Amino acid sequence: MSKKVLVLPGDGIGPEIIGEAVKLLEALNATGEVAIELSHALVGGAAYDETGDPLPSATLAAARAADAVLLGAVGGPKWEPLHISKRPERGLLGLRAGLGLFANLRPAILYPQLAGASTLKPEVVSGLDILIVRELTGDIYFGQPRGVETLASGERRGINTMVYTESEVERICRVAFDLAMQRQRRVCSVDKANVLECTELWREVATRVAADYPDLTLTHMYVDNAAMQLVRAPKQFDVMVTGNLFGDILSDCASQLTGSIGMLPSASLNAAGQGMYEPIHGSAPDIAGQGVANPLATLLSVAMMLRYSLEAPAVADRIEAAVSRVLDAGLRTADIMSAGMRRVSTIEMGEAVVAALRQ
Ligand code: IPM
Ligand code: MG
Repeated sequence: MSKKVLVLPGDGIGPEIIGEAVKLLEALNATGEVAIELSHALVGGAAYDETGDPLPSATLAAARAADAVLLGAVGGPKWEPLHISKRPERGLLGLRAGLGLFANLRPAILYPQLAGASTLKPEVVSGLDILIVRELTGDIYFGQPRGVETLASGERRGINTMVYTESEVERICRVAFDLAMQRQRRVCSVDKANVLECTELWREVATRVAADYPDLTLTHMYVDNAAMQLVRAPKQFDVMVTGNLFGDILSDCASQLTGSIGMLPSASLNAAGQGMYEPIHGSAPDIAGQGVANPLATLLSVAMMLRYSLEAPAVADRIEAAVSRVLDAGLRTADIMSAGMRRVSTIEMGEAVVAALRQ
């Protein structure tokens, strides 16, 4: 039976990178390696411009009905003046909440061909393979109360609230621990338990859940130290598990270890295994429309989609191998360009990966 994939190109470079992902999926469909039915919908600023809503109800309904969602990116300066409830980012957050996508997997893997592209010394990053598991539907991103209120004095006060229930912490820890059991069985839970009660509870729950995993080593680290350790000695990490806000920040930090944020895919999963897949880099409005964006994070997100939601892990492996071959051949988009390599456009990179699949 064919699987349904909803494609949401979004804003900025979103349509360009998603265009390459669609070509890849169509090539796989054509050979019968997968049977995927693609449909498209609007999200983010593109949806706001068309409908006045960054997440039209038709888009959310289509996402719910799909086996998987492939998203490009949302946001851009054009929509910054809008009220926060209408900004493109609301579309993304609404999809995460509406589909219950609580588990965000963000692998940071260094392709050996790009060891020289990182701003860190090659010996610090070579062989890097970290999996950041970020909780995605709780924390200060969704906590109440929130907003800006005006005090009696006339001064305004901004409020956001960090909240986690025990069950929310438990389920994200179980995802991280299960994944770690297929890797090096080491998990570092990141919190700020020395200051924030909410994350003191996080630490307590993580420790309790880990008792169910006798072969797993769980360590704890404060988020400030974790940020430092990521750039000092990143290879000490196997799996990191953390809350929504800390995970947002640490995953951007980790992405730079791999040479470019343009290389990092992600998966956001719910309890039913349904998932949304997106590159972690965002809409990059400064380079949108120029054909220079790196499509590899999106193509690697397709691989994650095939592995986690579409029951085609072997095809996922082949896409990842094809990306590696294209890098071996010296093709580089601007963000990962270095001396002696061949600079290519978004389309050339996408087409080279499709061609490499056939090798
Ligand atoms: C991410 C992004 C989003 C987030 C934004 C665009 C809302 O930075 O996916 O990491 O903060 O989660
Ligand atoms: Mg982010």
